Amino acid sequence: MLDLGLLLTLYPPPKRGAMNTTVPPAIRIKGIEKSYKDLHVLKGVDFDVARGSVFALLGSNGAGKTTLVRILSTLLKPDAGTAEVDGFDIGADPGRVRESISLTGQFAAVDEILTGRENLVMIARLRQVKEPKAVANGLLARFGLADAGGRRVATYSGGMRRRLDIAMSLIGEPSVIFLDEPTTGLDPEARIEVWNIVKGLADAGTTVLLTTQYLDEAEKLADRIAILHQGRIIVDGTLAELRTLLPAATVEYVERQPTLEEVFLSLVGDRSPAADQAAEKDADKEGTR
Ligand SMILES: Nc1ncnc2c1ncn2[C@@H]1O[C@H](COP(=O)(O)OP(=O)(O)O)[C@@H](O)[C@H]1O
Ligand SMILES: [Mg+2]
Repeated sequence: MLDLGLLLTLYPPPKRGAMNTTVPPAIRIKGIEKSYKDLHVLKGVDFDVARGSVFALLGSNGAGKTTLVRILSTLLKPDAGTAEVDGFDIGADPGRVRESISLTGQFAAVDEILTGRENLVMIARLRQVKEPKAVANGLLARFGLADAGGRRVATYSGGMRRRLDIAMSLIGEPSVIFLDEPTTGLDPEARIEVWNIVKGLADAGTTVLLTTQYLDEAEKLADRIAILHQGRIIVDGTLAELRTLLPAATVEYVERQPTLEEVFLSLVGDRSPAADQAAEKDADKEGTR
């Protein structure tokens, strides 16, 4: 079982009537600094995230992406600087911030022993959502997990786990969602499924802050991209703005080779329910051995 204390921190029950009337931005970060002993990880980070947009925070391993996400989700206190999430100050109003957000960490937080449906029902109960079972079933259907809902998560593929993880984070309809490296470790098809989920969230008006090490992910998904490097945001703009930072494109003839990803996807085809079922069967065999 997962630690219930941790779950309650991550999924506190929403307060009714906690409507906020504040207007954009959904996230405002000013001068955030954080050190771990002598390691000065964040040296003054500033940026805004517009309501209903997808914002990609790019950075290499160890750049401080998770540290910033943990600060914004009130799990870690900054040494300096301020941030507002959904109009609430992370220092003065951490409870209200937690009511507005959900966090999907870099490592799937699903409980292996429980079934997919039981995981969802548990979180729905923690968040005091009405009709937890109906909410769970709705999310299973929405994330292509209806058939797998009654099986233990231990038998799920990596992509299925990540989808369940994101489904869990949507319970209670948070207005801001943090996805910390949502596709790290996933195969190309599962990555595309997660991308589609993120696009769907943004289309529905949710603000998404995602961190990634993958340039193509930021390019495909984000309305705005910031690069965190050596403790600071070194660029922050739309893809078009970022492109203008490079010298103007020159036209030259290049015979374009397909990327390995295109080759892979054309050979294995799009992820179909049949592919999921095959993955599940394999996982079943593993489980009964
Ligand atoms: N609890 C901690 N104690 C000490 N150092 C840490 C801790 N958490 C992270 N770090 C260090 O801080 C740096 C940034 O880590 P992190 O925020 O996880 O980066 P990213 O998510 O971009 O990979 C890394 O060098 C990491 O080793
Ligand atoms: Mg990280």
